[in-house]
Parts: sequence; structure tokens; C-alpha cells
Amino acid sequence: MTFDASRPYNELPALPPAVELESRAVLKACIAARAAIAELKAAGRLIPNQAVLINTIPLLEAQASSEIENIVTTTDQMFLFAGANEGDADPATKEALRYRTALWEGYQALRARPLSTNTAIQICRAIKGVDMGIRRTPGTTLSNDRTREVIYTPAEGEALLREKLANWEQWMHGTIAGADEIDPLVRMAVGHYQFEAIHPFTDGNGRTGRVINLLYLVEQQLLDIPVLYLSRHILRSRTEYYRGLQAVTEAGAWEPWLLYMLEGVTATARWTMNKIDGVQQLLQETAERIRRDAEAIYSRELAELIFVRPYCRISHVVDAGLAKRQTASTYLKELAAIGVLQEHKIGREKLFLNPGFIDLLKRD
Ligand SMILES: Nc1ncnc2c1ncn2[C@@H]1O[C@H](COP(=O)(O)OP(=O)(O)O)[C@@H](O)[C@H]1O
Ligand SMILES: [Mg+2]
Repeated sequence: MTFDASRPYNELPALPPAVELESRAVLKACIAARAAIAELKAAGRLIPNQAVLINTIPLLEAQASSEIENIVTTTDQMFLFAGANEGDADPATKEALRYRTALWEGYQALRARPLSTNTAIQICRAIKGVDMGIRRTPGTTLSNDRTREVIYTPAEGEALLREKLANWEQWMHGTIAGADEIDPLVRMAVGHYQFEAIHPFTDGNGRTGRVINLLYLVEQQLLDIPVLYLSRHILRSRTEYYRGLQAVTEAGAWEPWLLYMLEGVTATARWTMNKIDGVQQLLQETAERIRRDAEAIYSRELAELIFVRPYCRISHVVDAGLAKRQTASTYLKELAAIGVLQEHKIGREKLFLNPGFIDLLKRD
């Protein structure tokens, strides 16, 4: 049967794929990816304050994953509006911040129940900020950005979509015969293709699928917290990403797709780990600098606090129990005076930016 881009792909084959997935090349790439992700997991455990990771890496991931879908904002805007005044952000930043929230909610939900079709619906709703359900009406197509030509038409009919999603769910959980023998990273890559090919929603499929990738790594205990910046890889090679998905559909080209995803895991696990090392080092230097230049206000907790997020508010110091409001304000002003922080006014609120931290997070 030949694939016709303009007709609903109701024949999308159920998983598992009818090919040998774990070729020599795939196994080799898989070993490298497993090693990199294991190191990232260990590095995450060593960092004293996990909030540093939780508050920063998911924002980078959210920015990149949204940009893949042409929802374009900057990491500066993300950091600035995260956690407060979200309503004042521009629409693209708001939407990208919702991706971060969706990732966080999905992570929380893993404690209550395993990843499922319902988790996907919940994530898609959180990303889109409106009620979303499995597609009921025809008309969803994927087209080339430039030429507008239709390149893929997903299956139609809610019952059929739900049936395909049930199969996808079983694959992810290894309850299909043979699936539990496949490495979880390969299962993630296969599952991501399948989810995108099913394309259960009218919009938000790409982002929902990418949130699910990260949650899956947590569910499979390859990571403790969802702090892999995988969309960085995808954004930087978007054409290859789209082409890879399409080539599985058109030609059953699983191997290049799996290699693409596994290399992405390896590269971004290393990138994220380097960032963690960099943050640790900068925190150490900054703590020493405060002790030297502002000894009277120095405490290790204060130094750590300005690395919990790139923008610190007086209320953060108060909430951390380091000082009452007046003193907290003095602390941050003093840190600005010695050049560790920069004071900004947003509306009536004072924000203290940690420029070294921001530069580090943004640098490649
Ligand atoms: N040829 C293809 N076959 C299946 N899925 C595709 C193909 N090309 C792109 N995709 C997926 O579709 C996503 C875009 O779908 P969409 O519902 O608009 O997601 P979002 O709203 O997050 O942008 C891409 O990010 C990609 O994951
Ligand atoms: Mg879209």
C-alpha cells in the first residue's frame, strides 16, 4: 500500500514496527546515550539545590520546543516572567511558559498514574491553555511551511485515534509482546514517531509529544527530574527532525530516525551536564566574591538563593527565611552595589538579575 500525503493515514501500522529496531548502529548509539543520561542523572543528584535545575532547564526546554512550532520568545523573557507577573508577558512568552507548566504538571501527575492517553490530553490542554480533546472532525493536515503543500494527513475518527493511542500506550509501557526487551530510549524514539503520526489533537501535538519524551525518561527512571534540554537538539536540526518523521512513514526508515533521536539524547545530556558543572562553579566563585566584598551580609544560603532563579525578588529572600523584608532589601541592594546582581524595575516591582547566571544559561 502506498502512502498518500493528502489522504488520512488510517492505515498507520500498529506498534511494534515490523523491522529489527536494534541494529548494531542503533545499539551503539544507545549505549552512548544511556551513559550520558546516567551521568546527567548522577550530576543532578549531586547538586545541593535541585531547585536550580527545576527552575532553569525546563524554561530553556520550553523556549526551544515552542520555537520549533514558530512560537518565538527569548530565554530572557522566559526567566523574567516565570513565576510572577506571567500575565504581563507577551502572547508567545505566555504560551511558552505554559509548556513549562505542562511539563511540571505532567511530572507531578506521574506520581499518581502512569503515562497514558489521558496524560497527553492533560498536557495538551495545559500547553494550549484551552480545553483540548482527541480530534473528532476531519481537516487536520501538516503542510510544508514554505510551499503550503500538504505533506501528511493523520488518521481520522475519534475511535480509531483512541485505538491507535491505546496501542502506543502499551508500547511505551512494554506490555506489547517483545516491547519490554527494547531499550527504553529506543522505545521513546519509536513512541515519539508514533505519537506524532497519530497526531491526536488539532494542534499542540509536537509540543505534547516532546513533553512526553521527558516524562517518559522520568517514568523509566533514567532521570529523577525532567531536566534534559532535548528540544535544543531538535530546534537546531528541525529540517532533519521533520524529514526523519516523514521518512519513517514513507519508507519505513527507522534506523536514521532512531539514530537521530539517540544522538539528540547524548548531545543534550552532555550539554545539560556541562551547564550543571558551570552553575556549580559560578556559584562557588560568587560565594567567594560576596564573602570578600560584602562580608557583613555573606551567608552560603544567600549565595545559593541567587542561583535558584536568574531573577531574585525581595520576597524570595523573605520566603527563604533569610531575613525580614527591610533587611532582605538591603542584602539585594548590597549585592547589586558590589556588581553581583543588577537591579531592574518592572512596573512597581524591583527585580534583581544575576547576569553571570543568565549568561551562563544562554551560552552555547
Ligand atoms: N511528516 C510528519 N509526520 C508526522 N508528524 C510530523 C511530521 N512532520 C512534523 N510532525 C510533527 O508535528 C508537529 C507539529 O504539529 P502541531 O500539532 O502543530 O504541534 P504544535 O502545536 O506543538 O506545533 C511537529 O513538531 C512534529 O513533531
Ligand atoms: Mg502547531
